[in-house]
Amino acid sequence: MPQPHLRTVVVLAAGEGKRMKSTLPKVLHPLLGRTLLGHVLSAAAPLAADRTVVVVGHGADQVRAHLTEVAPDATPVLQAEQLGTGHAVRIALDAVPDGAGTVVVINGDVPLLRPETVGALVTAHEEAGAAATVLAAEVPEPTGLGRIVRDADGRLEQIVEERDADATQRAIREINAGIYAFDAVRLREALGKLSTDNDQGEEYLTDVFGLLRSAGEPVAVHVAVDHVETLGCNDRVELATLRRLLRDRVNEAWMRTGVSLLDPATTWIDVTVALDRDAVIDQNTQLCGGTVVGTGALIGPDVTLIDTVVGPGASVVRSHAVGAEVGAGATVGPYAYLRPAARLAEKAKVGTFVEVKNSQIGAGSKVPHLTYVGDATIGEQSNIGAASVFVNYDGVNKHRTVIGSHARTGADNMFVAPVEVGDGAYTAAGSVIVDDVPPGAMGVARARQRNIEGWVVKRRAGTAAAEAAQRARDAQGASEVTGAASDSEAMHGATETVGGASGTGDTATE
Ligand code: UD1
Ligand code: CA
Repeated sequence: MPQPHLRTVVVLAAGEGKRMKSTLPKVLHPLLGRTLLGHVLSAAAPLAADRTVVVVGHGADQVRAHLTEVAPDATPVLQAEQLGTGHAVRIALDAVPDGAGTVVVINGDVPLLRPETVGALVTAHEEAGAAATVLAAEVPEPTGLGRIVRDADGRLEQIVEERDADATQRAIREINAGIYAFDAVRLREALGKLSTDNDQGEEYLTDVFGLLRSAGEPVAVHVAVDHVETLGCNDRVELATLRRLLRDRVNEAWMRTGVSLLDPATTWIDVTVALDRDAVIDQNTQLCGGTVVGTGALIGPDVTLIDTVVGPGASVVRSHAVGAEVGAGATVGPYAYLRPAARLAEKAKVGTFVEVKNSQIGAGSKVPHLTYVGDATIGEQSNIGAASVFVNYDGVNKHRTVIGSHARTGADNMFVAPVEVGDGAYTAAGSVIVDDVPPGAMGVARARQRNIEGWVVKRRAGTAAAEAAQRARDAQGASEVTGAASDSEAMHGATETVGGASGTGDTATE
C-alpha cells in the first residue's frame, strides 16, 4: 500500500525580533486585523494541511495563548534556544510522526503572503517531484536577505546568507523569501547533516538546498509574481510599510466589489471586516475586527468601528463604536460614542455628544444630544430630551432603566435606575426621575421656579445688568400704558422645543 501523502505546515516563530524593540514577540504584532503570525497561518490555511506546527521560543507563553485563540488545531513546539532556522525545522519535525509527504515551511514574519502564492509553490513542487523548492523574488533592495545562487544553466546551486556571501553573490537581487516546500523524507535526512560552519554559527535551513543539490537531488526555485508578498518585517518602520501595502491591497479589493472609498489613503480596513456593495466609506475611517457594514450605509468621515455591525442604509459620522449594532437606516453622530452592546434598532438616532452602553434603543427612537444612556431599554418612537443621564451605577451595582414606546422625556433628566417610564409617558425638563412614571403620565420632579421681582435693580445697583433691567422695566411700563401686545408668550414656544403638558410650562428638545 502506498504511504499516505501528508502535508505538514511548519511556521517558524521562535525568534525574538530584536529590532522591533518590543516586549511583545515580533510575530504577535498586529497588522490590520491579524497578528503577523495570524496572517501567515491564514495564508497557509487553504492548503488544508494534515498538521500545522508552530515553532515557538521567545514569548512562548504569549504565542501559545494566541494560537489557542486563532489556530487551536496548530501544535506549538518549543525551541528553547534559537540555534537557527534549520534547527527550528528539525525540532518541529521531531514532534510529528515520520512519513512521506510535503513539508511547507514559512517564516513567521511574512504577513503579505497570499494563499494563492503558497498554493502555487506547493503545486509546482509536488508536480515537479522536487526534493525542495524555495519561493524566490527579484527585489529592488536585497540587503540582509539570503541570495539565490544559480549555476550557468540557471538552476539553483545554493542559497547564501548575505553575511556569508562574497561580493558577486551580494550583487544578486533574487532573494530567498523564507517560504519553502520540501519532500518530507529527504528534508529529514538533510536536516541531520546541517553544519554550523557559518558566520552566525547557526543551523541554516537554507543549507538544505546545497546539500540536496550536491547529493544529486532535484531542487527548484519558484519565483513569486509580486515581490511585495515576500517582504519580511524586522522593525517597526517595515511594519508600517507593510501596513500601508496591505491597506492598499484590501482597499482595492473592496472597491472592485462595489464599495466606494472616498479617500483610500486614509481608510484602514482590517482583513476581517465585511462590507456590502454600495457602502460608502468616507475619509479618515478605520473599520476593525468583526465589523460588518450593510449595503448603502455611509461611514465617515472620521469614524472608528470596532466589532460593530451597521445595517443597510445607516449612517455613522465622526464617531467611535465598539461592539455595537446600528440598525438599518439608523443614524449615529456626529460625535457619538457607542460602547459594547449598544443596540440601535431600525431608524433609531443617536446624535451629538451621546454615549450609549449596553442599551437597546428601539425602532425610530431618538437620543439626539448630549446624553449618556447606560444599561437601558428604550422602546419604539420615543424621544430622549437633551442633556439627560441614565444614572445606572450606585457605586456598587449597575441597574437598568426602561423607557417605553412613544415616550417623550424632557431635557436635562436624570433617570435614577432602577426606574421605568411607561409607554406614552412624558417627563418634565430638569427632572430627577427616581420613581416609575406610569404609561401616559407626566412625571415632574423638580422645585418650582420663584422670581424675586426687582432683585437686580435693588441688590446690584449701578451694574450694567441693573441698568438694562431698569430700561426693560421702563419700556414694559410704557407698552402697558399704550396697551401694546406682549410677545413673551410666542417667545416661550421657541423653535426646536415643544411645550410640555399645560400647567407645567415644560419644554423638551427634539
Ligand atoms: C531567513 C533566511 C534568508 C531569507 C530570510 C527571508 C535562513 C538561514 N535565512 O533569514 O535566506 O532571505 O529569512 O526573510 O533561514 N526562527 C526560529 N528559530 C531560530 C531562528 C529563526 O524560529 O532558531 C524564525 C524567526 O522567528 C523568523 C524566521 O525563523 O520568523 C526567520 O528567522 P530570521 O532570523 O529572521 O532569518 P533571516 O536572517 O531573516
Ligand atoms: Ca527575518
